[in-house]
Amino acid sequence: MKLGVNIDHIATLRNARGAKVPDPVAAALTAELAGADSIVCHLREDRRHIKDRDLELIREVIHTRLNMEMAATQAMIEKALMVKPDICTIVPEKREERTTESGLDVITYSTKLKEAIETLSSSGIQVSLFVDPELAQIRESAKLGAYAVEIHTGSYADASDPQERDMLFEDVANAAVAANKLGMFVAAGHGLNYQNVADIAAISEIQELNIGHSIIARSAFVGLTKAIEDMRYLIDR
Ligand code: PXP
Repeated sequence: MKLGVNIDHIATLRNARGAKVPDPVAAALTAELAGADSIVCHLREDRRHIKDRDLELIREVIHTRLNMEMAATQAMIEKALMVKPDICTIVPEKREERTTESGLDVITYSTKLKEAIETLSSSGIQVSLFVDPELAQIRESAKLGAYAVEIHTGSYADASDPQERDMLFEDVANAAVAANKLGMFVAAGHGLNYQNVADIAAISEIQELNIGHSIIARSAFVGLTKAIEDMRYLIDR
């Protein structure tokens, strides 16, 4: 199973002081050396963490794949066509949210998403849609021609009631099976941490996990290399 490391919160820490460090570019290279299969960064409309320069420099220096998370706006699509990430993960984006709070409504926004998928794909960029673990959303993603879906694991990760958690786990597993059957690459992410990753990693249809906050949080105490190695160990086991 592949591991994409999201380094947005290295930039959050840097920006908290308006300083130059810690540098997300250095984080990307360190993450690769520690075993990350791809580097994930979210260029948000308000540029609250990753800045344009970070994304451009990361594109230039990394040796693995760049996964750019973005909203499906005209400005972001133009940016992606310029930066040329290997893959764009399209997410819904609200200015007031602290982090991405839900999956895309692929059904309601199908026309807009289809256009985005066609534009990005025709310039060689793979497109992944970040969706809640709902079969209708998965089916519509395949219909629109998405290369991949990333299944939103946030509700599963946040559930404290064991019964609810089990049900939400089943939803993730069923969504992964469906997406796999429809021929899409299957990723999952959001809210995954050292306590819950093993269960999700055991779903064999999931091919990649994209993880940010928990890895960056642990890195403050043990270093980024060790934090990534610890996560890799739990996923591989
Ligand atoms: N995948 C997507 C699509 C996301 O938007 C995020 C958060 O930026 C992540 C994965 C990583 O989530 P977390 O920081 O909770 O690990």
